[in-house]
Amino acid sequence: MNNEVTFKIHLIPNGISFICKAGETILDAALKAGIELPHGCTKGGCGVCKIKVKGKVDFGRVSKVMLTDQEKESGFCLSCRAVPLEDLEISLIDGSMVKVIRYDDFYSFLFKTRANL
Ligand code: FES
Repeated sequence: MNNEVTFKIHLIPNGISFICKAGETILDAALKAGIELPHGCTKGGCGVCKIKVKGKVDFGRVSKVMLTDQEKESGFCLSCRAVPLEDLEISLIDGSMVKVIRYDDFYSFLFKTRANL
C-alpha cells in the first residue's frame, strides 16, 4: 500500500493536471510531468518562474525582491521554491498556455543536463 502524500495541481488554461509529492516544488513536479513551466535560476533569485497560484503553498526561501509580501498575499509564488500544502490551480502571470513536452525520459534528460552544468 502506498501512503505517500501527493497533491493535484491543475494548470490553467491548458486544462491539464499533474501530481506533486509532499515536499516537492511545483516546478520540479511540473518538469517531471513534461510540463515546461518558465524557469531560470531554480534558486528563488531571478523571478522568472513566478506564477499565479490558487491554494495554500509553503513559499520557501525566496528573495523579497523577486517575490514581495504583497505578491504573496495576491496569490503569486515562485514555482521553483513553492511547495503545495493542498491541491492547487496554477497559471502563468499573463494567462498564456504552457508548453507540454511528452517523451518518456524527459526527467532523466533534465537531471543529466543539470548535472553537467
Ligand atoms: S527560477 Fe529563478 S526564481 Fe525560480
